[in-house]
Amino acid sequence: MNTHRTSTLVLGGTGKTGRRVVERLQARGLPVRVGSRTGEPSFDWEDRSTWEPALAGVGSVYLTYYPDLAVPGAVEAVHEFAALAVRSGAPRIALLSGRGEPEAERGEEAVRATGAELTVLRSTWFMQNFSEDYMLEHVLAGEIRLPGGGVPTPFLDVDDLADVAVAALTDDRHAGRLYELTGPHSLTFADAAAVIDHRNADTTDGVREALGREPRDFASYAAQAAAAGAWNAVPSASR
Ligand SMILES: NC(=O)c1ccc[n+]([C@@H]2O[C@H](COP(=O)([O-])OP(=O)(O)OC[C@H]3O[C@@H](n4cnc5c(N)ncnc54)[C@H](OP(=O)(O)O)[C@@H]3O)[C@@H](O)[C@H]2O)c1
Repeated sequence: MNTHRTSTLVLGGTGKTGRRVVERLQARGLPVRVGSRTGEPSFDWEDRSTWEPALAGVGSVYLTYYPDLAVPGAVEAVHEFAALAVRSGAPRIALLSGRGEPEAERGEEAVRATGAELTVLRSTWFMQNFSEDYMLEHVLAGEIRLPGGGVPTPFLDVDDLADVAVAALTDDRHAGRLYELTGPHSLTFADAAAVIDHRNADTTDGVREALGREPRDFASYAAQAAAAGAWNAVPSASR
């Protein structure tokens, strides 16, 4: 086990995963420093002069890059930061990475190349994107539109991710490991929306109550509409 006489720097320590990592480390009585623009001292990926002060007295780092490990410039930035961390006495790094993203894997390699005692947390989409991030406004608007939204995704709860991150940061047996992290079930965005949108997910018996017969199901509706030519290709001007 790690003895942790030094602080853990949690980058993105006010964000979805970092905030939870900070809470867990503090609950164990371990010294923590929030690494973000509102941290003390401030840490800003866009201002390299803030990196060294943020690493002073730090022995391990939860490394999350903002906005995304797959954006241009991210690989160079995490490589430079991790090299500085190793040089300044914080070789233990848990890196948050993205699953199925070649650019993010280049970021993992760049951090590994610094000689860091690295644990890679290669995560799928977070469940909390629906409630704590940009998907929230779609959910509240009642409509989730995404390209490829029909592809099943094994959404991960960031509380699980934070538990793994804290294990990686507090137990040296996780050094050198790469964890592919997902939730227990794959869901399409439509499945996820249906689970979230309880306002319209349940069925009612209003048709039977009014008419004394069962309502029509979606397949019957679609077959009748198709037979009537509803989806035959026609020039839009003639519709
Ligand atoms: N979202 C997903 O589903 C998902 C899945 C897999 C991997 N990831 C990875 O997770 C990482 C974080 O993404 P996220 O969307 O979850 O964000 P996030 O961690 O929820 O939020 C942003 C955090 O970054 C800080 N921040 C913003 N701009 C900064 C800057 N210029 N310098 C330093 N800190 C800054 C913010 O604090 P301040 O505002 O106080 O600076 C906040 O703590 C990304 O690398 C992404 O690739 C995300």
